[in-house]
Amino acid sequence: MPEERPKYYLTTPIYYTNGLPHIGHTYTTVVADAIRRYKRMRGYEVVMTTGTDEHGINVERAAQKAGIPESEFVAKMAVAWKALWDELGIPADEFVRTTDLRHVRTVQWLFKLCKENGYVYKGHYTGQYCIYDNAFVSEAKPGDNCPDCGRPLETITEENYFFKLSALQKPLLDFYKKYPNFIQPETRKNEIISFVEGGLKDLSITRTTVRWGIPVPGEEPHVFYVWFDALTAYLSAVGGPEYEKRGFWPADLHLVGKDIIRFHTVYWPAFLMAATLPVPKQVWAHGWFLMDANKMSKSKGNVILPRPIVNMLGMDAMRYFLLREVVFGQDGNFSYDALVTRYNSDLANGLGNLASRTAAMIEKNFGGKIPKSGAHLPQDDGLATVAAETVGEALERFEKFEFARSLEAIWGAIAAADKYLTSEQPWALGDSEAETQRKATILWTTAELLRIVTVLAHPVLPESTAKVWTLLGQPGKVSAVELDGLRWGQLATGVQLGKAQALFPRVEKTEAIERMEAMANEELNPAPAPPATAPAHAATPGGAAAAPAAGKIGIEDFAKVEMRVGQIKTAERIVGADKLLKLTVDIGTEIRQICAGIAQYYEPEKLIGRKVAVVVNLAPRKLRGVESNGMIVAASVGPEGRPVLAGFPEEDVEIGARLK
Ligand code: MSP
Repeated sequence: MPEERPKYYLTTPIYYTNGLPHIGHTYTTVVADAIRRYKRMRGYEVVMTTGTDEHGINVERAAQKAGIPESEFVAKMAVAWKALWDELGIPADEFVRTTDLRHVRTVQWLFKLCKENGYVYKGHYTGQYCIYDNAFVSEAKPGDNCPDCGRPLETITEENYFFKLSALQKPLLDFYKKYPNFIQPETRKNEIISFVEGGLKDLSITRTTVRWGIPVPGEEPHVFYVWFDALTAYLSAVGGPEYEKRGFWPADLHLVGKDIIRFHTVYWPAFLMAATLPVPKQVWAHGWFLMDANKMSKSKGNVILPRPIVNMLGMDAMRYFLLREVVFGQDGNFSYDALVTRYNSDLANGLGNLASRTAAMIEKNFGGKIPKSGAHLPQDDGLATVAAETVGEALERFEKFEFARSLEAIWGAIAAADKYLTSEQPWALGDSEAETQRKATILWTTAELLRIVTVLAHPVLPESTAKVWTLLGQPGKVSAVELDGLRWGQLATGVQLGKAQALFPRVEKTEAIERMEAMANEELNPAPAPPATAPAHAATPGGAAAAPAAGKIGIEDFAKVEMRVGQIKTAERIVGADKLLKLTVDIGTEIRQICAGIAQYYEPEKLIGRKVAVVVNLAPRKLRGVESNGMIVAASVGPEGRPVLAGFPEEDVEIGARLK
């Protein structure tokens, strides 16, 4: 009988459906996926859950705006989230939606248990509520803004069911003491402990002001508060009331951003304790990926999307960057520049180059068959020692979720192999028996180190390590190699190398960044779909404007574009972006900063004072990290699209005049 594997259950937050994933959400999901692959390598049977948080007033409003029922709205969004995770190679083992029946039942069951155990009572609550964060802000006064998101709070009074959170203060504090690793990292733990020590107020866990939620059985119009609903999704995903059958509860790890740690380390264990259900083993709060020190948000125009990165550099490049660039737990800054730099130096020149040059030398000297090693010299054993030490270090770091340090150790071994090749110079050896033997040893040693590095890096670089594995002609799949496969000396020899494939082709930085930015702009501001075809005779009743013909837009669509005469005040080049100029333009009411892709055709000094046509109501966006708030209109001439600025040669038109 096959030996039963230990089980490991980890989750990402379940994401709100009123937006689409950006690199921040992708970060949590990538981390979860890397841990999942690592745990499988260590022999666990793993389930990773992600999903969508689909209830609440925000969704009600978003669906209303879209003019469709909530159920249709969330179904579309859930499909989009799930599809992106699949496309990025990070599919969930369980994708849970809070509108799933299995989840609805679990929430109602959890409530029943809490109520039966005396932790729920009915009361009234008036408070300041943030509809964006779905939370009452206890310390706020009417008219205040939300301390988290800065948006206006609303005063809400309602009949609620309350959860006796206050009664769980001591059990929670005892729990944190008994399980000191429950909250990670340490700094967050201290924050939470002082928060709980400061006293806990009872929590309202149902709403009557919200329609779109899970109904409290027999208590309509009460629906569950979104956090009572959402947190329970972790349990619904692995069996809900029948969790014991699947054996994955309690969760081993909830991965969350630092923004939602309180919900996970105070409310969630409290609900479970009240229901006498097992409490998760660990909550790990990571930091945020920031853009110029700001949290990403679509309204600020500073979101980074995963798709353009993956299209340009591949999914592994994105994963590597996210895990290598910042210390897990802390905030980090995202920049395309740093991404491409790491790609070229660590992936193209590092792992990619070691793999391709090793394979090329085996091809040339041994007909593409991995040779057996001859006699060892001390320097060969030196590399074996490096490999053994790297395995220890990389695994130990990964176990502690010190991903950057783990990768640093692995890349240290790659550098050691490069150095070994440089000093042993197999290419300088001749074809005598002794020299061929020496070459065999050097190439075997290098290939063996590469094999070990490939296994170690697999949780982070699943796609490219699978390619290296095939290139090395090794049997089975790299994903199936477990711990004992990391011992030195297990390289299969005599096997034919697989077909060489480009792992990480070097990219030209400026061009790569421009392409990623262009793809992101396109995804964020898609060109409007052509209007639906209307039959020619479809006159609009009441003499309103007729529906436009196919491929045309109506005047009301054109009127949405606000164009004005602007005058260029300053113009300068942008370092590292040879096509862009940074301009300041007076548009009559204000001076705007606008980036224009005209640097190769216009001298900045000659533009000062020139009057141009400016689209002024375009959403701000970033080009090469520089904010651009508007667009200068230019003709695109010839096959290379040479820009020629639109102008006003007949008359000295007034600044700010509208173009119609
Ligand atoms: N729906 C709730 C979570 C309920 S869990 C029971 C929610 N959703 S969310 O869509 O806002 O996603 C929040 C999570 O996305 C964060 O906790 C974090 O994991 C991730 N991130 C969102 N923006 C981020 C960054 N800029 N950087 C890193 N991660 C961030 O809150």
